[in-house]
Parts: sequence; C-alpha cells; structure tokens
Amino acid sequence: YFRTMEKVLSGIRPTGYLHLGNYFGAVKNFLALQDNHECFFFVANLHALTTHPDPLSLSSSVKSVLAEYLACGLDPEKSTIYIQSDVPEISELYTLLNSLAYKGELEKCTSFKEKIRKHEENINAGLLTYPVLMAADILIHRAHKVPVGKDQEQHLEMTRNFAVRFNHRYGVDFFPEPQAFNFSQQLVKVPGLDGSGKMGKSEAEGNALFLRESNESIINKIKKAKTAPSPTEPNSVKPIEIENLFMLMGLVSSKETIQYFEDKYNDCSIQYGPLKMQLAEDIVKFALPIKEKIVDLEKNTDLLGKIAKLGAEKARESANETIKGVKNLMGLKSIWL
Ligand code: TYM
Repeated sequence: YFRTMEKVLSGIRPTGYLHLGNYFGAVKNFLALQDNHECFFFVANLHALTTHPDPLSLSSSVKSVLAEYLACGLDPEKSTIYIQSDVPEISELYTLLNSLAYKGELEKCTSFKEKIRKHEENINAGLLTYPVLMAADILIHRAHKVPVGKDQEQHLEMTRNFAVRFNHRYGVDFFPEPQAFNFSQQLVKVPGLDGSGKMGKSEAEGNALFLRESNESIINKIKKAKTAPSPTEPNSVKPIEIENLFMLMGLVSSKETIQYFEDKYNDCSIQYGPLKMQLAEDIVKFALPIKEKIVDLEKNTDLLGKIAKLGAEKARESANETIKGVKNLMGLKSIWL
C-alpha cells in the first residue's frame, strides 16, 4: 500500500524567515498532505548559494527554517524532513540531468530573467541551471505532487519537460510527471503590503509579514500598507491595493468579518482604518501560536539535530534507489566495483 501512495515533495530556500506567502502558498498544503501521502519536505540550502550568502547566516537560516517547519506542524513521524545538502544524491542527479537541459530554455526561464535584471553583477551558472537542480530535488524521490505557490509554476513545467525527455531518451517510464499542487485547485499568490506584486523576502522593507514577527510590528506594517481612495460609486471594482488587503483577510479572517467589510465597501461607507485594525488583529491571532513554538524549538538544537539526521537517512534511502535506476539506464553502472 505504501508503495502505491502518491509522493509529495517541496522545499523552501533558507534566505530569511518564513512569511505569510510561504505559509499560505506552500506550508499550509504540506500540512494537509502529510496525513495521507508519502511526503518529503526539505530546506533548500544549495539553492540559496546562487545569491552568495554569508556562510554563518546561511547555516543559521537553515536551522530557523527547520524550526519554522516544525512549529507550523510538519511532523517528522509522518514526513521525511531534511536539509538538501545532507543528501548528496541530489547533487549527483543534478549532474546527470544537466545534459538534458538546453541553454535556450534555461535562458528563457522567467525567474532567471528576473534575477539577471535585478543582479547584473552576479549572473552565475548556478542561476542558469537553477531549474535543473530543482528538477533533481523533485525527481530524486519520483514525486507526483509538488505543493508550491504560483511563482514556481514554470519551474514545475521545466521539471516535467526534463522528466519526459529522460523517459523518452532511455525508453522507459522511469519518472512520473510531477504537478504543482494546491488544495484550492489554484496556485496561490499572496500579495505584499506595498500595493503591488507578491509578498517576498527580498522585496522592499515592510512588504512581508513574517510568522515570527512581533505583534507591534505586524500592526505597524499593516497600518502603513498602501491603500487607495475610498469608493464613490456603489459596487465599484476594487483598486489593487484594496483587493490585496481583502485577499489577506481571506486568508486569516472569518467569513462574517470579510462579508461585513465587503458590504461596507459596496455601499461606499468603508473606512480603511478599521479594516486594517481588524486585519492586523486576525493576523496576530493566526501567527501567535506558531511564533511561540518557533521560539521554543529554536532553543532545542538537540531535537533539531535528531530530526535532520533521521530525515537525511530516510531521504538518502529513497534517493539511492532512484540514482541506481538512473545510472543503470544511462549506462553508468560500474563494471569494476
Ligand atoms: P521560495 O523559497 O522562494 O519559496 C518557498 C515557497 O513559498 C512560496 N511562496 C509564495 N506563495 C504564494 N505567495 C507568495 N507571495 C509566495 N512567496 C513564496 C513559493 O512558491 C514556494 O512554494 N525554488 C523554490 C524552492 C525549491 C523547491 C524545490 C520547491 C527548491 N527546490 C523543489 C519545490 C520543489 C523557491 O525558491 O521557493
């Protein structure tokens, strides 16, 4: 039975603290999947190298993402939880897949184009082949479902291309075609507080709300969030800034609360001050229990170490099976050993 269960895999880069975008775009789905799927969740520290992080802050970020995973409710008894660099088979598969990925398709990748636009001074090979490493992450366990936010959709499409290409070249259905997954059927993009785009770790100060953020800071950031003029016509279309605030409410507030403010918007009696106060209160309420657990877990280095070790062992077992199969198919089975 276990063997036929669909496999789930996802990861988060340790480039800072987890924010509401990471939670509602990804982690919330991890939690719902771990009860009835074979799940692999990891901290993507190799992926973080493309932006040249300071080594000390990278290793402390790995610890904090691990603690945040657990605080959100990832359960090492149900899921395999590991650090990417503890599973060298991933890097091996990355090498093996590299020759199946073409320069043209890698250069066309939106995340690559965005990175070179933002960081002209650091266009390294790791950035270009980022989608190959991500495909290796997913294919190493032959995963079926990949819970991610909307921004990862194209990476999943590339992973499917590499999987199909491999299967075709070696004449077997070795890799399944993994699908981006969200329980609500649609992939999510959580907006930031600056009125445009998405919530992100590296966006402008004040754009993201972190799970471990203090209550005062949550309230302050929401107070400062961009708004727009109040509506003057009943039932008018919401400007993007206001739509964003309602989207955030949709994640943390009750149906009645949302309806109350929708009605006020539609009859033009809305005031954004009270709406923001309510939103801030609901976010504080949502984040508080998670925040408390993060603080406790981070102190417990022994426990984090045990969980990472167990996770790496389980992940390597699964990864080894795939690597063996891939090497056999590619003609790399050792004749001498
Ligand atoms: P990363 O670390 O940027 O983000 C982690 C997860 O959070 C989601 N996310 C969002 N979802 C909705 N709204 C937002 N504003 C928002 N911001 C972030 C991301 O979609 C992602 O699911 N390349 C990946 C990490 C990765 C990975 C993998 C994921 C490496 N290998 C294999 C899945 C499978 C990344 O940079 O995500």
